[in-house]
Parts: sequence; C-alpha cells; structure tokens
Amino acid sequence: MIALALFGLYASTFVYTFILNYVHARKSNLPYVCVPWDQNHLFWMLASVPSRPFLKKHLPTWIWERLSLTVYAFEFTEKLRPFTQYAAPQGNDKTYVLVSMGYFEISTRDPEIAWEILSSQRSKTGFIQHDLIKVFMSRFGPNVLTSDGEAWARQRKVVASSITERISKRVFEESLRQVEGLLEEVFLLDGCGGGGGGGGDESRCETERLFDGMKKITINVLSSAGMGESVEWKDEKNSSPEPGFRMTYIQAVNAVIDAVAGPLVLPKWFLSYYPTFLPGGKFLRSVGYAIEEFPIHTKALLERENKKSALEGKTRSNIMSQLLRASESETKDGVRTLSDEEMMGNLFIFTAAGFDTNANALSYALVLLARYPQWQEWISEEIDAIIPAEMSIAEMDYASIIPKATRTLATMLETLRLFPPAIHMAKQTKVEQTITTSRGTFWIPANATVYINNIGLGRDPDVWRNLNLKDGETSNEVDDETVFRPSRWINADGGLFQPPRGTFSPWSSGPRICPGMKMAQVEFTSIFLMLLRRHRIEAVAMCKSANGEVENRREVEKRLDQSIEDSIAILTLQLPNVYDQKKGEGIKLAVVKR
Ligand code: HEM
Repeated sequence: MIALALFGLYASTFVYTFILNYVHARKSNLPYVCVPWDQNHLFWMLASVPSRPFLKKHLPTWIWERLSLTVYAFEFTEKLRPFTQYAAPQGNDKTYVLVSMGYFEISTRDPEIAWEILSSQRSKTGFIQHDLIKVFMSRFGPNVLTSDGEAWARQRKVVASSITERISKRVFEESLRQVEGLLEEVFLLDGCGGGGGGGGDESRCETERLFDGMKKITINVLSSAGMGESVEWKDEKNSSPEPGFRMTYIQAVNAVIDAVAGPLVLPKWFLSYYPTFLPGGKFLRSVGYAIEEFPIHTKALLERENKKSALEGKTRSNIMSQLLRASESETKDGVRTLSDEEMMGNLFIFTAAGFDTNANALSYALVLLARYPQWQEWISEEIDAIIPAEMSIAEMDYASIIPKATRTLATMLETLRLFPPAIHMAKQTKVEQTITTSRGTFWIPANATVYINNIGLGRDPDVWRNLNLKDGETSNEVDDETVFRPSRWINADGGLFQPPRGTFSPWSSGPRICPGMKMAQVEFTSIFLMLLRRHRIEAVAMCKSANGEVENRREVEKRLDQSIEDSIAILTLQLPNVYDQKKGEGIKLAVVKR
C-alpha cells in the first residue's frame, strides 16, 4: 500500500507539471503541441539518442512524430516539420510550446523573437544561460559561457579583448603552414606521390584521413594562437601524451566534451574507479582521467607562458598570454579581473568552444564541396584572382588576402546555415517575460526554456529561398533553401549578403555573440584558400560488389547525401563515421592537383 501510494504521489507530480504547462501554454498566446512525457528525465536524456532509430522504426508514426520532439537534436532530425505540422495550423509557423511533463519549453525559428532574446542577454533578470549549460560547462571553474550579469560582463570584457587582430593574423599564418604540412603528408607520406600504394599517382591521392587532418589543423592552430605553443605538422606533440600523462591537453578537453551529455556531472572518484569491464567502463574511466589531468596540464601551460612572456618582456600574441595579463589587473573595486578558477574555466571553454565547432564546420565543407564540385571551381576562380600563382606562403599577407576572399567566406556561411555546429541556443527565464513582435504579444512563464532553433532559422524559405540567384543561374530545386548554394551570399554588387537581424545566428547574436567568430572565419578561409589553391577535392567512388563494380556518380552523391542526413549531435552537430576511420571505412576523398 505504501509503495503504491508513493508511486501515485510520484506519478501525480508529472501529471501536475503537465497540467500546469498546458495552462501556461494557453496563456502564452503561442501554438503548442502536447507530448505527455518528461524530456528532461536523466534516463531519457541518456537513452533517447541511441534508441532513436529503434523507436522510429517500431513506434506508431503518430506517437513517434510527437515523441521525437523530446529527443536531443530533434532540430536537425525533424527540421521544419514540427512548425509546419503543429504550429502552422494554429496560426504561427515560427514558434511552438512543447507541453510536456518536464520543463516548459519553447522552440522558435522566429527572427524577431530570436533577436529580442539574444540582444537582451546582459541582465540577470531577462533571458539567461540555461542551468544545464552551467552544470555541465563549469566543471573546471566559472567562465564566460556559464556566467550572467556582472560576472559575465567582467569576463566577457577580458575574453573579447584577448582575441585581437594579431591573433587573427597568427591564425592565418598558422593555418597556411598546417595545410602545407597536410598536403605534403597526403602526397608523400601516404604513398600516393611516392608510388607506395596509397591509391593514386603523382597528381592524385585518395585518403579517408582528410577529416582527421582538419581536426589536427584545428588543434594545432588553437595550440599556437590560443596557447602560444607552435607545433609543426609532423610533430606528434599534440597527438601523444607527454611522459607522466595519460592524455594530451586537447584529448583531455575532448573527453570532457564527449561526456557533456551526462557523465560529466558524476563525481571524480566514481569516474576514476568505475570498473572498465562494465558497460561504458572505458569511456567513463577516460572522462575520470581527463578531469584529473586537465587542471595539471593547464597549470603547466600557464607557467610556461608566464616564463616565455617574462623572457620576451611583453604580452605575446596568443590568447592565453592576453588572458594572463588581464587576470593580473584589477577592477576599480579592487577585485582581480579574473580569479584563478575563472582563468581555468575560461581556458577550458576556449578549447571546448573553439575546437569541435571549427573542426566540424571544416569537415562538412569538405563533404559538401566534394558533393557539389561546381562550387570548388567558383572558389578557385577567386583564389587565382587574389593569390598570384608564384606567391610563396611567406609572402602571403593576411591583411590583403582575407578581406578579398569573399567566396571562400560565403562557402563557410552557407555550410553553417545548413549545418550549424550549435543546433540551438538554450536560454532560460528566471522571472516571467513578455515579448512583442509583429505576430503578437507572447507571455513566457518563469523557469521556461527557449531554444532558438538554428536549423529552423537557416532553412527559412522567407529569407533564403532563391536569394541572390544570378542571371542564368537557376535553382532546379523547389526547396532552394535546403540546397548548398554559396553564391546566395554574394550580392549583385559583389558584396557579402548581410542577413536581416535574427535570421542567421550560428555564432549567436547580440552581446553574447561568439567571441571566436572572426578567428573561426579566418581559419576556415585560410584553410580552404590553401587547400584549393593548387588542388581540388573529389569524392571517391566505392566498390559496390565483390566483382569490383564501382558506384556511378549518382550513387556517390546519394551516399554522401545519406551521410550528411545521418549527422549526429553530441555537443555539436557532426558527420558520422568520418574521424578515426580505418582504411576502407568512412568517406574517402581524393586530393587532385589542378
Ligand atoms: C565555427 C566555429 C564556431 C561556432 C559555430 C561557434 C558558435 C558559438 C555559439 C552559438 C555561441 C553562443 C552559445 C550560447 O550562448 O549558448 C558561442 C559562444 C562562445 N564561443 Fe564560439 N563558436 C565557434 C568558434 C569559437 C572559437 C574559435 C572560440 C575561441 C577560441 C569560441 C569561443 C566562444 C566563447 C568563449 C563563447 C561564450 C561567449 C559568451 O557567452 O559571452 N568559439 N560560440
């Protein structure tokens, strides 16, 4: 009887939350969709993503279509469907409330609401960072991403001022050097140029390791521009741990990022001693090691940077050095601008925010350019016009090249429009809010979550369909906004299209816009300038059968489309099965001299 009564009490809290959310949804003046389920239950958060294919296959469609809205990364898997299926019939196809047994959640692709929320993030009483971001991302100390109000403003000032034009220049130079190393390796060490059987000849090399190459470049650039530790391409310093460590600095950050969806909140002792033979044992152990080693790595890096700065007698042009100098100064109230914990927290967030996002944007662009090769010719035309054929890397000048690389930057923007690493920005209310837009006035209760849906914003036909179609350029697609077409970013006068406010936010918008945006743009642009300057990327046709029959072009395209469609979101949106692949697995690309 007692057990039954307790269960009844437990169940009634869910029913109560559901009814309350329903009442609030009615009051909000927004469309709503009822899903009597707790999307925030820890068990569901951990189990729903891996179970998605099974549930999709076995549940009746009418149940799955609703339940899928509670599974992490539904923004990508469902795209505009929830808006057209549930919100549009209620008179507003841009926003809806999920009436569930968990948090009161809103998903919006309304540029006006997005702008209203993102531009008002300064105060502690408006829309603030989500509690879950704070729980997961402040494991090593409070930082700019996890703070609000005064603490955020103080840290943001330091962080923003540490990413200067000097840093961008360094990112440019380092990226060029790293791509040169990658190409050398692909042609010489992979055996294509040397006839070592790598699948190619002097002018063409096939490899499935370009994606790992993108990761390595991102790590090495971050290491140089971020930590002041310049690394040669051939140097394995960033790939294998130093004596006494189980992981490199970046591996530790990576393991922590992979654990963000859950295990990161577990205590260190549990992670370090969890038996490896139990399910998930190896993974949990590696998270334990990472949590143990990250602070030791960071302290060592800070000490090294302090010594180097003292030796050179100045602040060096890397982010860590700039942060260190800032941390030694004081605000007018005599408080240190960055405490030791904040220093550690911000160094972690810089690496976490700057690594995965960049590497995945680069990998998507590789596949998209192989899938739509006409855009490579378009970029190459620009490269030939801005970089003379005989110019050496040492002669390439950041200030004169980067501002002219409009098409290359447009390619990045188009990649992020369709595949934003951050599929949403999660914001929370502490007190009730009202937002007035041209669609009406909407009420949002306290403790609500608003997901600004980057996938929905990027695919809005009202903004993107047939944008900047040039004479003679026809989009054969009905849904042009879903097609990779970088030229939509180039206006008739050759300038870059400036999206109306709130319509394009892969780096967020307003006061909390990503401080690494320029750095990421410079890195992407430099990498593709260097990669496509003398080469092009081709998708390699795979064997279809034992008798050696290979795919035709249409089949290759279908395979690439499927890979893109199967994208997964851990912390960021990413292609499946492209990193750490064995020979013959993953997506094989050919680097061909042009
Ligand atoms: C393609 C690359 C990148 C993308 C798409 C991206 C995206 C974003 C987004 C969407 C946010 C807002 C998150 C939120 O409010 O919940 C953000 C914040 C942030 N990003 Fe990036 N980012 C990129 C690269 C970088 C790089 C290279 C760095 C630094 C080296 C960086 C550092 C940060 C930091 C510190 C914040 C927190 C800012 C604040 O809350 O005031 N990001 N980024």
